[in-house]
Amino acid sequence: MRSIISLFLLSFSLGNGVMFAQQSAAQNPLKNLVSLPPFEEELSATFFAENRERLRDTLPDSSVVALFSAPLKTRSNDIHFPYHQDPDFYYFTGIKKENAMLLLFKEPIRIEDKWYREILFIEDKDPKKEMWTGKMLGAEEAAEISGVGAVWSNTQFKPLQLDWDKLKHVFANRHLFVEGDDLTHPGDLMSLINHFYNKCERAGRPVLVNEGEDLFAFLRQQKSLEELRMIQRAVDITCEAHNNVMRSIQPGMTENQLQAIIEYTFRFNGADGPAFPSIVASGDNGAILHYTDNSGVLIPGDLVVMDIGAQYEQYAADITRTIPVNGVFSDEQRQVYQLVLDAHTVAIRYARPGYKFWTPHEEALRMIGKGLIKLGIIKEWSEIGDYFMHGTSHYLGLDVHDAGIYSALKPGDVITVEPGIYIPEGSPCDEKWWGIFVRIEDDILITEDEAMILSNSSPRSIDAIEAMMRKPDVMVEDQP
Ligand code: GLY
Ligand code: MN
Ligand code: MN
Repeated sequence: MRSIISLFLLSFSLGNGVMFAQQSAAQNPLKNLVSLPPFEEELSATFFAENRERLRDTLPDSSVVALFSAPLKTRSNDIHFPYHQDPDFYYFTGIKKENAMLLLFKEPIRIEDKWYREILFIEDKDPKKEMWTGKMLGAEEAAEISGVGAVWSNTQFKPLQLDWDKLKHVFANRHLFVEGDDLTHPGDLMSLINHFYNKCERAGRPVLVNEGEDLFAFLRQQKSLEELRMIQRAVDITCEAHNNVMRSIQPGMTENQLQAIIEYTFRFNGADGPAFPSIVASGDNGAILHYTDNSGVLIPGDLVVMDIGAQYEQYAADITRTIPVNGVFSDEQRQVYQLVLDAHTVAIRYARPGYKFWTPHEEALRMIGKGLIKLGIIKEWSEIGDYFMHGTSHYLGLDVHDAGIYSALKPGDVITVEPGIYIPEGSPCDEKWWGIFVRIEDDILITEDEAMILSNSSPRSIDAIEAMMRKPDVMVEDQP
């Protein structure tokens, strides 16, 4: 009895906590969550070695490429953000540690009495640092991961004498802002960058960063089979997260609680975590394209836009589902949703070789324009941008907005298709449409023929979404 009374007092004193405790007890969302079968693959040293070979093939004669790892970033005081490797550095090395650098030469160059095609510089193992932040890479392990034969201490870069007669062109990745130099360490990231730029300046070689970015983007755009397997895993986990929300959402829950279900599903299935801040936007929050507060309460009758993506082995998924909080779309929501879905379908039809990168967007825009006019939401073509104000596609890979050339669509490209319609309160149309925000986003692979949708394992049609929300263990086939 005493414990009941004190629980009651505690609930009373916590205010909103009362509602939260009651909801959690009543619905226990975790009981409906489903997990995926295990997946144990990782990228091989051969993959990274092949990427370096492809890079070498695209370089002009007498070139060198310097790739720097990402800096560690401070969150506050002495706490850091979780480390995320620079995508270019990762793509050519597979190394996920900081204070590292790769030098890659077009032709073998002689240093002292040996010939080198590439040298990877990494941080020396330091038992004191390992005690605080975990195991560091030894040279042998770094060689095994990357396939680079020559792995040196990062302190060996400063004294290195390069034969600049053989190095006419110097490319580098665009390194991110580095917060500070450890003055006692000649091989930390800032020292590597400074020594590199000083050497180039003394040798009269400009560092070609924009040109380097274009080369890396060209290579990264086309995904290999190994990469596709990683992307597919990130996509499968993300679909499962959407499905888990559909299985357990209840009015009165908070957006944050949906985010918890989503990110639980990510990590439980082996993802590194989210590839970008999860967007869980119910009601009017759906108007904010990159909403990340996720603090609203779910109200029956509202839609919730969930734009989320797991990261697996550094590869991102990016999938949006829009669902009704109470499990059933209203008539107006249905009409707008179906229009976005039609635009999505038509965009995918044009996502194939022979078309430009922007053709799917142009077709989606045309479909949405026609539909908005038909529904009476707009009168003039020029008003479309008020309701659909973003692009339909971007490349997807190591970055969620991945590197690529944005010209013709090619087999091996992975892109998103994500049309949307957003009708905020006060829009110049019948107010029955106000407060409807819909985005549908899928990840697709461009093939020789029609595009392959990688994210079919989460329902997308109105009927299939409603069916899954009604019967959490049923997945209705709904794909075109
Ligand atoms: N999640 C961000 C985007 O869809 O581009
Ligand atoms: Mn997205
Ligand atoms: Mn996207």
